Amino acid sequence: MTLEDFPRYPLMFGPSPVHHLPRLSAHLGGAQVWAKREDCNSGLAFGGNKTRKLEYIVPDALAEGADTLVSIGGVQSNHTRQVAAVAAKLGLKAVLVQEAWVDWPDSVNDRVGNIMLSRIMGAEVRLDPAGFDIGIRDSWQNALDDVRARGGKPYGIPAGASEHRLGGLGFANWAYEVQQQERELGIFFDTIVVCTVTGSTHAGMIAGFAGQDRPRRVIGIDASATLEKTRDQVARIARSTAELIDLGRDLRDDEITVLEGWAGDYYGIPVESTLDAIRLSGSLEGMIIDPVYEGKSMAGLIDLVRTGEIGSDSTVLYAHLGGQPAINAYSALFRA
Ligand SMILES: Cc1ncc(COP(=O)(O)O)c(C=O)c1O
Repeated sequence: MTLEDFPRYPLMFGPSPVHHLPRLSAHLGGAQVWAKREDCNSGLAFGGNKTRKLEYIVPDALAEGADTLVSIGGVQSNHTRQVAAVAAKLGLKAVLVQEAWVDWPDSVNDRVGNIMLSRIMGAEVRLDPAGFDIGIRDSWQNALDDVRARGGKPYGIPAGASEHRLGGLGFANWAYEVQQQERELGIFFDTIVVCTVTGSTHAGMIAGFAGQDRPRRVIGIDASATLEKTRDQVARIARSTAELIDLGRDLRDDEITVLEGWAGDYYGIPVESTLDAIRLSGSLEGMIIDPVYEGKSMAGLIDLVRTGEIGSDSTVLYAHLGGQPAINAYSALFRA
């Protein structure tokens, strides 16, 4: 089966916008930097990367006759908010396990931003004290059992929709969307920079780009601070996605690059470089990025361009994966 053979349920406006970041590029003094904006890819609750992944998962949920989507993430999970939005859109219920992935003292952390949006959209939100882990969790299995026990038909979507057979397809499709937009713009992005945590965004891109003729670098910036787990998960999902879409060859190790250096010590806790990146893209481009994910990948991009690791003749595409609602839980960082 090739990618086109998989059913896709449209949840986005169409291809996500691609645009130049001229003031940021000039400020960095090297490569030309562009952005592709998953943060405004959809009218569903501010969109984001999971909306794109869910386009390939929804047909499976509908085929199974599910009436409840059951998912999991941190308290400020963007993923669970997007699951809540998709459930609302489809007329399904949503049960969301929200774990204490981030030890963050903001007094409204469990009330504003993503979790508030999920509640507004009618999801059943369950707070759970478990800490950060990108793997499969008991609390999620329990939520699935509870839905069954009350006579419902649950459909499980793991954290970040990553440990799902179809989780990599959305961003394999992104790679083809980029290729099409390049043709229209008369441009070639030799380097892609993307934030990676549960892995299927980056992994899907790797599998999708691997089927194209012109090679390019797809640089994942780790924001999990559990580097080995993320690296393994990216490699595993990239390979399974490549197989699923009939790439016809094994992925080479050098096609799978996850860089460390910008996550700080903990998932969800911004460090100085994260805050600098947030202020820089906000003040130079009016482009808002968050302290958990995109602030960290942008910090990586800034350093890689400044040090010439991404050369000055490069044209870089920064994958903006969404995530802005969480910024409301980080207000103390931006009082001055
Ligand atoms: C805004 C944002 N950026 C990046 C990521 C990382 O994507 P993935 O979990 O597919 O690696 C996520 C989700 O985890 C996210 O919500």
